[in-house]
Amino acid sequence: MKSKLPLLNVDIISESLTAKRLGKMIMLYQSTESTNDIAWKYAKSDNYDGTVVFAEQQTEGRGRRDNKWLSEKSHSILCSFLLRRCNIEADMLTLATGVAVAEVVEKFISSGAKIKWPNDVMAGGKKIAGVLVEAKDSDVVIGIGLNCHQQVVDFDESIKDIATSIDIEAGSVCDRNEVARSLIVALENWLDIAGKEKDAVIDKWKQESFLLHKRVSVESDNEIYTGTCIGIDPNEGLILQLERGGVKMFHAAQATIADSV
Ligand code: BTN
Repeated sequence: MKSKLPLLNVDIISESLTAKRLGKMIMLYQSTESTNDIAWKYAKSDNYDGTVVFAEQQTEGRGRRDNKWLSEKSHSILCSFLLRRCNIEADMLTLATGVAVAEVVEKFISSGAKIKWPNDVMAGGKKIAGVLVEAKDSDVVIGIGLNCHQQVVDFDESIKDIATSIDIEAGSVCDRNEVARSLIVALENWLDIAGKEKDAVIDKWKQESFLLHKRVSVESDNEIYTGTCIGIDPNEGLILQLERGGVKMFHAAQATIADSV
């Protein structure tokens, strides 16, 4: 039996928070449809740039490509960051966020983390976190779902074999307030780097990549392309050296990883 899990607490998260732009305003919902939707409601005012919205539970959590994001109450970090007038393109934001989340996971799991293009963070070969970047004009909401306290039995049957959590990988119970604070700090740092030095983000992404040099099958426009992942381009996406010959790039918005070995 799991003992009562500690709740998120804004005072604890803000305590000694070193981030300057992100987390000036932190909101915490016990239950909401989607933290991304809450963040969008604040996009009308400049005062809310950098706002972070956390929720203990989401009733309509969403992932990429109309997938649902499922999580039991108080088991995850479910959060969204609002960036007003952001001049970094969405694909670069996804990469930088993946790098930041992987860095945080690595702080809590000694076996490390990998980034599976475009938006999954992996630990122990399974998905531990997902990133959903939504952009309207120059406003952006970055949503992150990071599994913390789940045990295998807590995952929906459909994802049991492919999902993991910090507690599973670490073999101990993590402090979600500490995870939340680390996430704000890491994301601010990597967004800052992405704004100035895109290559530094790409280099880090390559070091942490789950797919680089692997044989990958990508589904795009109802076709399966198989080849070796040879890199990532901030504008063009995943680069595959195709087995049928030639090199092809895949935009995150139009492609799904069908398989990787
Ligand atoms: C994915 O892997 O497809 C991305 C999942 C992103 C889920 C997070 S949970 C917090 C935020 N609010 C949402 O509705 N989605 C994101």
